[in-house]
Amino acid sequence: MEIITGVDWSRAWSEQLSRSNHQNRLRNQNISSEDFWDGFTGWQEMHRYTRYPGKALERVLDSVDPQTTVLDIGAGDGAFAVPLAKTAKLVTALEPSSGQIARLLENAAMAGVKSIAILKSRWEDVSSTEIGSHDVVVAAYCFQMKDIRAALQKMFDSAKRSLFLLHFVDHDLVKPLHEITGNSNTGPDYIYLLNILYEMGYPASLDILTRDYEIPLDLQLDAFVYSHGLSAEHRDRLRRHLESEGKVFSHDGQLWARRRYEDALIRLDKEERYR
Ligand SMILES: C[S@@+](CC[C@H](N)C(=O)[O-])C[C@H]1O[C@@H](n2cnc3c(N)ncnc32)[C@H](O)[C@@H]1O
Repeated sequence: MEIITGVDWSRAWSEQLSRSNHQNRLRNQNISSEDFWDGFTGWQEMHRYTRYPGKALERVLDSVDPQTTVLDIGAGDGAFAVPLAKTAKLVTALEPSSGQIARLLENAAMAGVKSIAILKSRWEDVSSTEIGSHDVVVAAYCFQMKDIRAALQKMFDSAKRSLFLLHFVDHDLVKPLHEITGNSNTGPDYIYLLNILYEMGYPASLDILTRDYEIPLDLQLDAFVYSHGLSAEHRDRLRRHLESEGKVFSHDGQLWARRRYEDALIRLDKEERYR
């Protein structure tokens, strides 16, 4: 892994974040991140197909036993919080969106899990006293944080034992989406997080995890319409791109798309290096 010096990674992070699709989408429609997540009703349905969190969850579970306390930052609908709570002593799920909290509670009830405490807040807005400290801290795909260095420091400080960060590497439609919309920007990726942690004196370990999956075509296209604000014409072009790549197939009377997604699992173990 090459660590690049001479770059102000924290500043580059906030610039890239502000230019990202997601932030553009929020600005153009004048909505908050909480509004966005409240309205993303397809999110839970997507999880049925995307094999998420997959191996990343297995790695975190390896560090969790019935005595372990866990903090899940930006817990969403509980993709980590709910399965971790089946083993852990307590999972504290920090999440600012009411819609996501409702989905998380629904998933927890369906799984028969009771050991989840909810903290409704953005990470930036919660004090160290409110957070407390937890054996294991997880933050997955929730890094819409302008001052990322301060956010990471607070994550590090709240972990007694291990910190796991899961963030974006790549997916198979980044380039086609860029070609179709002319302005697809996925935002700062895992390289930024690794470099910022390195600058902070916390060299982390890295695992790139690949998910290959099949998903109903309409569900996938609708998710891009919602998350990227795709027009009907762009949606149609994306569908034609998938067909031309041979990634669309028919099964059980409906059309499906083959997808590939790469996640970066970044891990810091405090007792080994920092105590
Ligand atoms: C892509 S979802 C990921 C949810 C979950 N971590 C997972 O891996 O399935 C992003 C979540 O982060 C939350 N989020 C966004 N900005 C946040 C912030 N500043 N602090 C805490 N959570 C945030 C959103 O409300 C949303 O539920």
